[in-house]
Formats: sequence, structure tokens, C-alpha cells
Amino acid sequence: MNLEPLRPAHVPQVLATMRDPATLRFTRAPDPVPDGWVEQWLTRFDGHDRHAWAVLDGTGTFVGYAVTGPVDHEGAEVELGYAVAPDARGRGVATAALLAMTRWAFDAGLQRATALVSTENPASARVAAKAGYVLEGVLRSVHHRGGRRVDLQCWSRLPSDPDPTAAGRPGQTPTPHA
Ligand SMILES: CC(C)(COP(=O)(O)OP(=O)(O)OC[C@H]1O[C@@H](n2cnc3c(N)ncnc32)[C@H](O)[C@@H]1OP(=O)(O)O)[C@@H](O)C(=O)NCCC(=O)NCCS
Repeated sequence: MNLEPLRPAHVPQVLATMRDPATLRFTRAPDPVPDGWVEQWLTRFDGHDRHAWAVLDGTGTFVGYAVTGPVDHEGAEVELGYAVAPDARGRGVATAALLAMTRWAFDAGLQRATALVSTENPASARVAAKAGYVLEGVLRSVHHRGGRRVDLQCWSRLPSDPDPTAAGRPGQTPTPHA
């Protein structure tokens, strides 16, 4: 598994992943995703206030994407998100991606990483738990998009929390490029 900065060459695969019904249901991507929207969305990730990576498998095949919300540099906090290509699910891709992003965040000096997960998305909740995140509680009736409101579990991990990877050794999870 490898994470590399998301770039225009990844747009077709991102779009295919984003247009999957589960991704539309559980992420903030607009439904339907308009033509040209992903290209605009990509420009938000400036590598300082927001970051985005393509998740690649061992053969270099795109298997998903991973993103940050706006990095709170003063508060040293960040929200992390992920979506996996439908045919690559169930193989640990999201867990590896979240572990890698979390490592990136703590290496960058951030003190708190969060994942907001719909109460109707047990697979993603399981991903957060496997990546060592702690369930803090449920944020009720959060504005999702298009006038919809949803209940979101708030999961967090701090640098002082146990590293769930085997002994937390360097190289156990991929480190995304800056
Ligand atoms: C949720 C999602 C990211 C998971 O990706 P993935 O690569 O399949 O995740 P992983 O393989 O790392 O782990 C999935 C875990 O959830 C479990 N799981 C899957 N479906 C489940 C369900 N309906 N109920 C409970 N657990 C479930 C799997 O068994 C696995 O746990 P295990 O390793 O203990 O067996 C993927 O389904 C996806 O992209 N969904 C659409 C976008 C999305 O929801 N993004 C997250 C927004 S918060």
C-alpha cells in the first residue's frame, strides 16, 4: 500500500469511487457528482491547509483516496477521511490508509486526529477502531449536504494513544508524501 499526492491523472478513478452509492451516501461528495466537479475539488488541496492522497496497492493500482479537512495549524488538529474503490473493499485498504494518514499527522506535529463516521456506516466505524481511534460520542443532526442532516460518531486518536500496528515499528504502515 502506498499513498501519493492526489493529482489530475487520478480524476477518472476518483470519480468512479465517488460515484459509488456508498461513497455518495457517506461522504460529502455532491450527489450526483457534476462533470468537472472533481477537477475543481482537487484544487482545494494545496498541501498546506488541506492534503489529499491517492491510495495505491502494491502494483500501483488506484484503490481509493484519502483526504484531510482544513488543517487547524494553531490548534494542531485535523479531520481525516477516506473512500475505497468498490472492488478493493474488504482488504484492509481503508485501515492502512487511515493509519498512514494518522502517522503523517503526528509526524507533522498535530496533536489530535478525528474521523467523523455516520452512525449508519459500521464498516467505517470498524476502520476507525482498527486504526486505534477512540469513540468519543455521537454528534447529533450534523449538516451533511443538500439539506440532509445526519448523526455522526466522532472518533479521535491522540499521539499518546497506543499504536495498533504490530509493535508500531517504522515501515509497518506506509507514510504518505507531503
Ligand atoms: C467504509 C470503507 C472506507 C471501508 O473500506 P475497506 O477498505 O473495505 O475497509 P477495511 O477492509 O480496512 O476494513 C473494513 C472492516 O469493516 C468490516 N465491515 C464491513 N462491512 C461491515 C458491516 N456492514 N458491519 C460491520 N462491519 C463491517 C469488515 O469486516 C472489516 O473489519 P475486519 O477487518 O475486522 O473484518 C469503504 O466501504 C468505503 O469506501 N465506503 C464508502 C465511503 C465511506 O464510507 N467512507 C468513509 C466515510 S467516514
